Amino acid sequence: MFKRIGQMVVSLLLLCSVSANSAVNDDLTYANYDQVRINHVYLDLTVDFDEKALKGFVDISLKWSDKNATEIYLDTRDLKVFKVLAKNADNNWLVTDFTLAKRDDVMGSKLSITPNFQADKLRVYYQSTSVASGLQWLTPEQTAGKKHPFMFSQNQAIHARSWIPIQDTPAVRLTYTARIRTSSDLLAVMSANNEPTTKKDGDYFFEMPQAIPPYLIAIGVGDLEFKAMSKQTGVYAESYILEASAQEFSDTQAMITASEALYGSYRWGRYDLLMLPPSFPFGGMENPRLSFITPTVVAGDKSLVSLIAHELAHSWSGNLVTNESWRDLWLNEGFTSYVENRIMEVVFGKDRAVMEQVLGVADLHTDIADLPENDSILYLDLQGRDPDAAFSDVPYVKGQLFLMFLEQRFGRERFDPFVLSYFNNFSFQSIGTKDFLAYLDANLISKYPGIVSSEEVQEWVFGKGLPLTVPAPKSDAFTNVTSLAAAWLNGDKSLTDLPTVNWTVHEWLYFVNGLPRDLANAKMVELDNEFNLTNSSNAEIAHAWYLLALHSGYDVVKPQLEQYLINIGRRKLIVPLYKKLAESDAGLNWVKAVYAKARPGYHPLAQGTVDETLKK
Ligand code: BES
Ligand code: ZN
Repeated sequence: MFKRIGQMVVSLLLLCSVSANSAVNDDLTYANYDQVRINHVYLDLTVDFDEKALKGFVDISLKWSDKNATEIYLDTRDLKVFKVLAKNADNNWLVTDFTLAKRDDVMGSKLSITPNFQADKLRVYYQSTSVASGLQWLTPEQTAGKKHPFMFSQNQAIHARSWIPIQDTPAVRLTYTARIRTSSDLLAVMSANNEPTTKKDGDYFFEMPQAIPPYLIAIGVGDLEFKAMSKQTGVYAESYILEASAQEFSDTQAMITASEALYGSYRWGRYDLLMLPPSFPFGGMENPRLSFITPTVVAGDKSLVSLIAHELAHSWSGNLVTNESWRDLWLNEGFTSYVENRIMEVVFGKDRAVMEQVLGVADLHTDIADLPENDSILYLDLQGRDPDAAFSDVPYVKGQLFLMFLEQRFGRERFDPFVLSYFNNFSFQSIGTKDFLAYLDANLISKYPGIVSSEEVQEWVFGKGLPLTVPAPKSDAFTNVTSLAAAWLNGDKSLTDLPTVNWTVHEWLYFVNGLPRDLANAKMVELDNEFNLTNSSNAEIAHAWYLLALHSGYDVVKPQLEQYLINIGRRKLIVPLYKKLAESDAGLNWVKAVYAKARPGYHPLAQGTVDETLKK
């Protein structure tokens, strides 16, 4: 009995001792956050569509941890800073010296503020500029409705600094409030307390009472309307896609229920979706309370809704427990890919969940084949690069596979409570890979000895490529697709013999991606005649087909491909196509002309990536 209690005390102590520390581990920020941390900001901004600028001021609340420090360094990129005030002990605002350093391509410009005392509040008068890397400004002509402009932010990884002077590191957490002024026919929404009943009047207030890292501050402004999907969930969108989105994502509430059953309560109140223009450079972005979503997943058949499960899963992995630096991105994305798949399993069944695992693993292999060896390590080595440049499936799918490996070895009966306790233990904290590993060791590896060795864990996290212990998910449906494809390729079956009417989008993707890259033109024609793949309205299938067409030299797709590249700005869908085209002189010439038309509609991030791709 006493021994049992003794053991309990020891494990309690272990549990408590594993918490995040405050060392400075992020070298992508100029902030001296080991001396002083922002704990709240108030944004007072006017949206100027003519100048493509956010203009106003930010009030910054500070908490000092170093008794001797009086200077504060903030991150900025391409901001104009007009004036800085610091509030002294008598509540007087004093004009304060500041300097804006020369711009670094990756980090931006260090803003040094020197009040000469430990100010607990600063006010910075500033504006963003039209080149802000974290904002996209669309003219009315560039929107679906053609009548109103649209603007949205994308802060992850280090773009908050392009519209807010801030300690732009995920190690720092802050609450925020905001007043946003815009024209009275537009609605502004933020990653905060959006009220579905808000009337358009051009003057909006927001409050985010939970401490979040700066990369989760987000804003969208446009001709938006709201449609509820359940009491807790709804969609903001331009009217052209409002109904379709609410239909497509009607399982969002069920996804929340599934995730809560596994990982504890959803901590953020409402969960809404903001539908962005097709130029949104990502599939989705997990801005708290309001995920930002690409319209390219509104396929009409719920085939791509794992994206919603993914962004929702970040409400636990990422937003609740946050990577403290971008080297630790796998803590956000690997956990989220794992949780996403668990949600999909509950809501859509095991078969679909496994198909999505297999497709993910295939993408991972394609990525790893292309990447420098060092970029296949989970604990990323950024080497001074922009995190956007090191972006790949490694933190996502290798991270997911690592967690699947642990799940399989320990069994769900042990692994699920472990993940739940991990989220609870580190809730509202930013942690690093080392914190996770210490927690993993104390609560799983050493707790149940003899199941997984610490060498195996080390290899997963710090090793290159994939360990021999990598799980290999298998889908019977896909095995079937492979044999049918083989039968067609060697002439044993005709296309009309294939049971494609019953195929899901996943089976189609697996089919197209599995075809030989040098498929004969006659075969491509046969496929296209039968299935009209060149005109597929599913953005993922179209992507897979165009890629195959470029490999096999099936030029018939060119007009539709051109439209695709002009209409869509989601990097994952367009960059592989640009890359493939850039491999030949003829392809490069053709795509440069297309890009000249497409580029003005792209987000700055997508422009950057494609510029880079076509330069090589
Ligand atoms: N948080 C990411 C997007 C991101 C990651 C932006 C790193 C900047 C740097 C988001 O949750 C995400 O992972 N989106 C994916 C979708 C997903 C289903 C894999 C995307 O955009 O493709
Ligand atoms: Zn993600």
